[in-house]
Amino acid sequence: MCGIIGYKGMSDAKKVIISGLKALEYRGYDSSGIAYSTNGKYKIVKMQGKVSNLENKLSTDTEISNIGIGHTRWATHGKPNEVNAHPHKIGKTTLVHNGIIENYVELKNKLKEIYTFKSETDTEVACALIDYYANKSSNKLEALKKAQTMINGSYAFVIIFDDEPETIYAMRKNSPLIIAQKDNNFYVASDIAAILSYTNKYYLLDQGDIIKIDDKISFYNSELTPINKKLEEYSGTLNDVMKNGYDHFMIKEIHDELIVYKNIIRSYIPNFDITDLEKNFGTFTKYEKITIVGCGSAYHTGLAAKYLFENYAHIETNVEMASEYRYRTIIPNKKELIVLISQSGETADTLEALRIAKANGMDTLSIVNVLSSSIARESDKVIYCLAGCEIAVATTKAYLAQLLILSLLSILLSYERGKLTKEEVNNYLKDLPKLQKETKEILDNKKYYQDIAKDIYKDHEMFFIGRNLDYALCMEASLKMKEISYIHSEAYAAGELKHGTISLIEKNMLVAGIVTIDSIAPKTISNLKETLARGSNILLVTTKKLFKDYEKDNFYKYTIVVNNINPFFECLPIITTLQLLSYYVALYKGENIDQPRNLAKSVTVE
Ligand code: F6R
Repeated sequence: MCGIIGYKGMSDAKKVIISGLKALEYRGYDSSGIAYSTNGKYKIVKMQGKVSNLENKLSTDTEISNIGIGHTRWATHGKPNEVNAHPHKIGKTTLVHNGIIENYVELKNKLKEIYTFKSETDTEVACALIDYYANKSSNKLEALKKAQTMINGSYAFVIIFDDEPETIYAMRKNSPLIIAQKDNNFYVASDIAAILSYTNKYYLLDQGDIIKIDDKISFYNSELTPINKKLEEYSGTLNDVMKNGYDHFMIKEIHDELIVYKNIIRSYIPNFDITDLEKNFGTFTKYEKITIVGCGSAYHTGLAAKYLFENYAHIETNVEMASEYRYRTIIPNKKELIVLISQSGETADTLEALRIAKANGMDTLSIVNVLSSSIARESDKVIYCLAGCEIAVATTKAYLAQLLILSLLSILLSYERGKLTKEEVNNYLKDLPKLQKETKEILDNKKYYQDIAKDIYKDHEMFFIGRNLDYALCMEASLKMKEISYIHSEAYAAGELKHGTISLIEKNMLVAGIVTIDSIAPKTISNLKETLARGSNILLVTTKKLFKDYEKDNFYKYTIVVNNINPFFECLPIITTLQLLSYYVALYKGENIDQPRNLAKSVTVE
């Protein structure tokens, strides 16, 4: 949930760390800090707010430092202020931390007889614990090993000791950490974005691994046995982590959706043929049931997939929030496939759900964007989303990639289960270029969404209603709107509205209806009219074919109409339009679009 970086090398550590922290700011941005050494003595500087505040504060220090550690925080324990900001220092130990120490109260009670704590954080307690063991042994690796056995929870630590000022140590469990070397420069970071301007090659740390960087990198497992690591290579480019002329990452990433389509088609369905899908996704004939698990938007793609899987492949599909799945009673079923969806591949609840499913002997498939992330590595099978680095906190292109992969999977399942012929499947797959064309047209026509946004951005609340797959799309559209514009928005199953919630409808309240399924369109339309009768303004989001039926009715104030493609793919351009709408609403409101308040991109804590 926080971003961490350590550097030792030939450049000014302050500059490398600040640029790394800026790249990691999407992981947390309520305070930041750095510890850097000049002539063997460490200075610690911390600031509340954005990394740019820290950068300004550091600008007066012109001394060159070649080693240091930095942190950008998303507060868990303790307010976002300077005292609680990292790095924390106790005794001779200074560290930065991403994760949560679950037993910190217990540890603190023991350690407070020896140490005085200044902050409210769990991290300071971990720092004291490591310092305690570092004072008992001259071997810092032994001290870290001992500390690991005492800490429950999740952590990626980067640590320096006053009596070894030229050495960086790091260790991790349940929070990601990568290590890289370019010439005589060494980097430790939460993810590749922090160091991509120097290198795209890196090592991944596994659970419990401990590393030491002096004039080389030494890797150890949790038993301190030296280990070798495989060098990984990030296949994207620096452009992935730059705005490339756009005002925000979010709008850049919505435009990247065209690249996502290209990547997915090229890698998974180059011949627009079912055999491509069979080869790249595998076979699923042995399963009688699918459970999809994810959080937030990833959960919403799961919800959309449930309808696609059930409507077309006739396979029973459950969708669960990972935070719920992990605490419910699992009934092991060899014929059930557990599908984990995650952009980051590090979301704590989804990762734990995966481990629980595996512990119950069930097969797992993950749909993940970040290569070699924990969820990707630990699941039995993985399908990568190929969306490239996503920086804006609100997901757009990764959601779209997940939804496209799930739509393709539903086509494959329908074929395997005899619900579609090979010819029907291939006809659907041949519609993929139409999907790209439709998205391009939507992106070329941004002004349309801008104009609607200009009219509605002063609203205080809105509803999104729909049925079946449309309801799943409403969930995502509504989340996108509220998380970046702070307009209170609810997604509701259209038929459920009159069981209580309709009492909230007031004059001029916006009710958006997503209506794309012919057979149930009249039902949702009549639910929209029920709100109209209570004074709402209606935004009708529909397909060209259905719009013809309702055009003359003239009950709507705004419309978003997409071209018909086929029932598996229509949902994708709908989402792009609503992502654009949310973006422009937030833009008119002047909100911090890429870094909405209280949020962080990668939720590696419970
Ligand atoms: C919303 C959003 C979040 C994530 C959720 C899961 O725009 O981005 O709801 O979808 O935190 O994250 P991942 O997909 O990384 O597991």
